[in-house]
Amino acid sequence: MKRYQMYINGKFVNARRGGFFPVYDPSTEEVIAEVPDADAQDVDDAVAAARAAFDSGPWSQSTPQDRGRVLFRIAEKLRAETALLADIETRNSGKPIVEAEYDIADTATCFEYYGGLATKVIGHVNPVPANALSLSLREPIGVAAQIIPWNYPLLMAAWKLAPALAAGCTCILKPAEQTPLSVLEMARWLEELGVPPGVVNIVTGFGETAGAPLVTHAGVNKIAFTGSAQVGKMIVKAAADTVKRVTLELGGKSPNIFFADADFEAAIDGALFGVFINQGEVCSAGSRILVERKIYSKFVEAMTAKAGKIKLGPPLERATKMGPLVSKEQYERVTSYIEVGRKEAKMSVGGARPATFTKGYYVQPTIFYDVDNSARIAREEIFGPVAAVIPFDSEADALRIANDTPYGLAAAVWTRDIYKAFRVVKSLRAGIIWVNHMQPTYVEAPWGGYKQSGFGRELGPWGIEEYLETKQVYVNLDEQPIGWY
Ligand code: NAI
Ligand code: MG
Repeated sequence: MKRYQMYINGKFVNARRGGFFPVYDPSTEEVIAEVPDADAQDVDDAVAAARAAFDSGPWSQSTPQDRGRVLFRIAEKLRAETALLADIETRNSGKPIVEAEYDIADTATCFEYYGGLATKVIGHVNPVPANALSLSLREPIGVAAQIIPWNYPLLMAAWKLAPALAAGCTCILKPAEQTPLSVLEMARWLEELGVPPGVVNIVTGFGETAGAPLVTHAGVNKIAFTGSAQVGKMIVKAAADTVKRVTLELGGKSPNIFFADADFEAAIDGALFGVFINQGEVCSAGSRILVERKIYSKFVEAMTAKAGKIKLGPPLERATKMGPLVSKEQYERVTSYIEVGRKEAKMSVGGARPATFTKGYYVQPTIFYDVDNSARIAREEIFGPVAAVIPFDSEADALRIANDTPYGLAAAVWTRDIYKAFRVVKSLRAGIIWVNHMQPTYVEAPWGGYKQSGFGRELGPWGIEEYLETKQVYVNLDEQPIGWY
């Protein structure tokens, strides 16, 4: 078992109180590492380091070109270390190794994208009268605290760190307590790649003891959070006293809508991929599958048959398509929703850990059908391999059901009818809409939700905006006194 230290002010350190907590491999349920159990004192240290690096350290003097080059170096190093990082990610999160490799590739691409964008942050000349020059300067917000979840550990770190660093901010990143290992591994390389001490700090700890003090800390200017709606709501309240900038990505209950004219084979694949990829531990999971009644029975049957064949297995095996859930807590949460579902709807497949596994937090791909949209399994985010299939009769009916949710992160629509597709696209209340696909995500395009799925946008130019302030500058060109008095 490996004992890790966390990364504050360019040094690997223990928590001041000296405590550690265990980190598990969810496929074996065994402890694989220990990491420091940080609390408010360690958060103070990290904020002081980030503050100093921003206010007076080398980062405040760095040029966009300097920062861009640092991010390019990080991207290349991540690519070179894909095998190591994917292995750590898979052991720690339970995600299939092939998916972990894609995650590392996307992580590198994210740093590269923002490395390029660093030099494309451009201000404005505002159209004021001729006796003045008015400028809008874009400046970094300052110290950003970034609190991330466990489903894409290193990729979520990149979505937070890369735009912040490109903008010129300094960061305190708190990984999820379940999955701190990959980003701690990355931290080992940061200084030699050109990230000065204090610019990136990684604080390991629990939400209540290490996350909460970041949210209230007066030295922090911005909170970027991805996680549960429950914690997101608490963060908005807790950040109010210091008027921090806040961005939130809080998951959802995204509808995946299938019209009868959709390509049937592609539709079945898309329904399964939408909800079961990464064990269903995906904020944009297409967990409500809306199917036009004309194809409904055939659809449920075909989906069920194919779901039953999805290869559940040890995540390090390359043939594995679904590994275990991330933790005991998540296993219990998901299986308890399955029990709720048994009372609310009919189940066609899944429902438990396969009998072939004696340990590991494995849950079979599970499909409930004839689900009413008022059921808990249709309204609450389960964050596991559980699909709720809901029939509909018309386009209007589909839209009503799709939008009848407190969430609005994502949605997808499958049809060959271009008129119908775009009508539906315009009427869906969600931040990300896929047509004839579900889940592809590009760093070039905006990511974020409507309604209670959060606010703010990550990725693309939108992602860097969230780390910038706008400074309005007025330059008087008129040499006369104001002449008012
Ligand atoms: P969570 O929201 O509690 O954890 C996410 C992050 O927030 C972690 O780093 C955690 O340490 C931190 N955190 C927790 N409490 C905090 C607090 N009071 N102040 C500051 N930071 C805090 O999510 P959890 O408990 O891991 O999962 C529960 C459910 O949340 C899942 O079943 C899923 O429905 C949802 N979720 C959504 C995600 C998304 O991508 N939108 C990601 C992870 C979970
Ligand atoms: Mg929690």
